[in-house]
Amino acid sequence: MYGFTLTKQKEDEVLNTQTFEKYESEVRSYCRRFPTVFTKAKGSKLFDELGNEYIDFFCGAGAVNYGHNNNYIKPKLIDYIESDGIMHALDMYTSPKRDFIDYMEENVLKPRGLDYKIMFPGPTGTNAVEAGLKLARKVKGRSNVFALMGCFHGMTLGALSLTTDKAARKGAGVKLNDVTHIPAPYMYPEFDTIEYMQRLLDDDHSAIEKPAAVVIETVQAEGGIQVFEVEYLQRLRKFCDDNDILLMIDDIQVGCARTGTYFSFERAGIKPDIFVLSKSIGGYGLPLALTLFKPELDKFNPGEHNGTFRGNQLAFVAAKAGLEFMLKENVEQQAKDSGEIIKNFIEKEILPLDSRLEYRGIGMIWGIEFEKIPVANFSKLVTAKAFENRLIIECAGRKDSVVKIMPPLVIEKEVLLEGLTKLKKAIAESLAEIK
Ligand SMILES: Cc1ncc(COP(=O)(O)O)c(C=O)c1O
Repeated sequence: MYGFTLTKQKEDEVLNTQTFEKYESEVRSYCRRFPTVFTKAKGSKLFDELGNEYIDFFCGAGAVNYGHNNNYIKPKLIDYIESDGIMHALDMYTSPKRDFIDYMEENVLKPRGLDYKIMFPGPTGTNAVEAGLKLARKVKGRSNVFALMGCFHGMTLGALSLTTDKAARKGAGVKLNDVTHIPAPYMYPEFDTIEYMQRLLDDDHSAIEKPAAVVIETVQAEGGIQVFEVEYLQRLRKFCDDNDILLMIDDIQVGCARTGTYFSFERAGIKPDIFVLSKSIGGYGLPLALTLFKPELDKFNPGEHNGTFRGNQLAFVAAKAGLEFMLKENVEQQAKDSGEIIKNFIEKEILPLDSRLEYRGIGMIWGIEFEKIPVANFSKLVTAKAFENRLIIECAGRKDSVVKIMPPLVIEKEVLLEGLTKLKKAIAESLAEIK
């Protein structure tokens, strides 16, 4: 960081992204939306090598809910490294892993009445989903799984067979089998999708095999911030119970207090049979993923879902510290309070900009829907303008028509309002441009 800000023209001269363009694969993605070279991050701000400061409404896609380089977690990591704490141990027993498991079970799961065994798959969300799928299929002895249209569960083959995004699926290069996609409840509000699932099971001419599990996000995040109603979640739980089907919840993006409760399913008072966590469970943006399941489902043979990086020791230290921080600072309440600020701002400041705008959200995840603006890629214009105005914010949803507001949960109120004001400006400018 140079500590000064360059003019736009000077930026173009100084900015050096050639290394990436020349040597890094074309598969790179977010860097295309945020074309600068980042150097530092603190709290809810990112800094680039041109001296610019950005407000972060993207939050590492939900991986840094407690803010970048969190001051409570950081010294614990430094101490651990300084003391030559073991860094790599496959899935051997280590003290950071024991400390994390004990803390998670005693302080997060048990107080919520949740009795789950914890499995450490490879340290990505998609691998946690793979593990959950394998387990569900093994336990139930069925290959089919139900997933909802509009869902995102990851990019490896099993998870990708759930994920509905057309472009992502095309990349698989093979058939994506053994999943039946059910319309999400918001798609046809007059159509009872739970009754439909029951019909698929009961009808001897449905040609659909009974699934091992139904896999859902309680809020479809990449799907455009679609918040499922409590009643739907409760009925789905009952449907699974009535039909001997497992309910698997993907809490990778909207878990870790994002919706105002540590687990997103708490608001419905339901307990999944299997659930997966990643992203902010790593506390400090470190790679970690968990697949959790009811003890009676623990049917894996030793090594049946093996991997070299299952259990990143530094991430265990950060994860435990992250949970301590979450409880100590009442991050769940912070998410609820700041969520109200976002909601009010959208209602009072953003919606009046154009009668075609809609919004949805819960806790600290909100979306502004631009579907009704008849201009292709309008939301990308908004996020590009926001970026020019030093706000990092992403799109989601069908045709990327939603702008997703997802700041760190601990963002200071003034910074939150500053970011929202930048967003309002970007929307107003974009609307003016297409007039
Ligand atoms: C709900 C959900 N599930 C799974 C994943 C995949 O996680 P990862 O990118 O770590 O593989 C994501 C990533 O955005 C996600 O949002």
